[in-house]
Parts: sequence; structure tokens; C-alpha cells
Amino acid sequence: MKRLLAVLLIALLPALSFAAEHAADLESVDIDVSDKASLQDGARTFVNYCMGCHSARFQRYERVADDLGIPHDLMLEKLAPAGAKIGDHMTIGMQPADAKTWFGAAPPDLTLVARVRGTDWLYGYLRSFYEDPTRPWGVNNTVFPNVAMPNVLEGLQGRQRLGCREVQRRGVEAEHADTPLTHEGCDQLVAVPNTGTLTEAQFNEKIKNLVTFLAYSANPDKLQHQRIGTYVLLYLAVLLILAYLLKREFWKDIH
Ligand code: HEC
Repeated sequence: MKRLLAVLLIALLPALSFAAEHAADLESVDIDVSDKASLQDGARTFVNYCMGCHSARFQRYERVADDLGIPHDLMLEKLAPAGAKIGDHMTIGMQPADAKTWFGAAPPDLTLVARVRGTDWLYGYLRSFYEDPTRPWGVNNTVFPNVAMPNVLEGLQGRQRLGCREVQRRGVEAEHADTPLTHEGCDQLVAVPNTGTLTEAQFNEKIKNLVTFLAYSANPDKLQHQRIGTYVLLYLAVLLILAYLLKREFWKDIH
């Protein structure tokens, strides 16, 4: 038994340290892929703001419409380019080679990006563009330094700069009662007031919805998995009771 515990602990160690490392610099975001309203808003943002450059080529309009509860005609009218058919994959016209000359890096397909980067990373990345005149598009990113992507959501979020502001203490420091809860931190993202159409809370919600859509897109079967998983556990529970009763029956006359 002891040995088994030791083996389990060792097997879990990398996962634990990985989690700790990520918690340090990225805010975590609660994603609910069963929230249809959130998914629909995310899909709308994705089509309108991202599909100019990024495809989701392992995904079909039809599947997205069905999973998100969007009628097919509405899907074609609002969320697909003119002339697209409902069974088409969500591809784009931009050629990777052209994109590479224009941007310096080809915008990758985003169908599976939530699996590669994780939702916290995406949520952080999409909110962390800031003005940097030394970069080709005039922006840089604190989560993905020197990224080749322009800040396509600037109109919604408004402009951000690096500067100093009060930030919350995190980790060990925050646990001491005698230290104040915030301190002045520099190299922080600071919003330029009144440059975006959304408030900070509204923008965060928009990005959360977009990340929810990307999480769904990377694992469209997840909802189904969860449902089947519940049945499997219920089945095992019933089996356990039967096995226990059977065991009692078998051993009845022996003791
Ligand atoms: C004008 C073109 C353009 C638009 C529009 C655009 N991107 Fe990008 N994006 C890029 C380019 C170019 C890169 C590659 C950056 C690099 O590797 O330096 C990129 C990279 C990314 C990455 C990093 C992928 C990785 O794992 O390396 C993510 C995530 C991403 N974009 C998400 C989005 C989302 C979400 C939207 C819509 C809100 C969007 N992009 C809109 C051009 C664009």
C-alpha cells in the first residue's frame, strides 16, 4: 500500500508543479462549455474578428450551428461568408505563404489552440496587447512577447500602455496580515481611458465567451463525454452493490 502511494505521488508531481507555475502569472478563468449564450457570443466574435486571418478548418458550420443551437439559415446568413454552404469547413481565403510575408508569421489554425495553450493562457493573451512603437503593428503583448499579431480587438478594449499602478499582492506575501493588500507595480498594463467601446468588465466577458468558444471547438465532444461519464459511474456504483451482496452470499456459511 505504501509503495502504491509513493508511486502515485511521484506520478502526480509534474502535474502539481505545472499547475503552480501557471497560477503564478496568469489569471485563471472559469469556462463553462455548456453555456449556449456564451458560446454563441464567442462564435460571433470569432467569425467577425478572427476569421480574417485564422481558420478553424477542422470544424464545420453545420456542427457549430447544431451544437450551439443556431438555426442553419441564421448561421449561413450571420456567421458564414457569402456563398458558403452549411457543410463547409470553417476555412479562410488567406494563403499561409502570403500571410507569412505580410505578418512575418503565419496565423495558425485555431480549432485546437485551446488544447495547446490552455484557456487561461488564451484569456490572458487576448487581453494583454499594449502599445509599443518599436513593433511593426505598434503593439506588443505581455503574455506572448513580440507577437506578430495586430491588436484586432483594440476598438472594443481601448488602448493599453505599460505603466505603474496599484496591483494586488499575490502568493506568500499576501498571507501576512501586516502587509497592505496592494502595492505599486510597474510594467503593468494600464488602460488609456475612453479609447474603447466596452468597459473593462464587458470586454473581459467578451473574451471569456470567445475563449469558451475556442475551448468548445478544441473538444466538441466534451459535453457528450460528461453525460456518458455520469452513466458509467452510475453503472459502476450499481455493480459495486451487486458484487458486495454476492460476496456476502458466498461467504455466509464459511464464517
Ligand atoms: C490581421 C490578422 C489577424 C487577426 C484578425 C487575428 N490574428 Fe491571431 N494571429 C495573427 C498572427 C500573424 C499570429 C502569429 C503570431 C506569431 O506567431 O508571432 C497570430 C497568433 C495568434 C495566436 C497564437 C497562436 C499560437 O499558439 O501561437 C492566437 C491564440 C490568436 N492569434 C488568436 C486570435 C483571435 C482569438 C483572434 C480574433 C479575436 C485573432 N487571433 C485575430 C494574426 C491575426
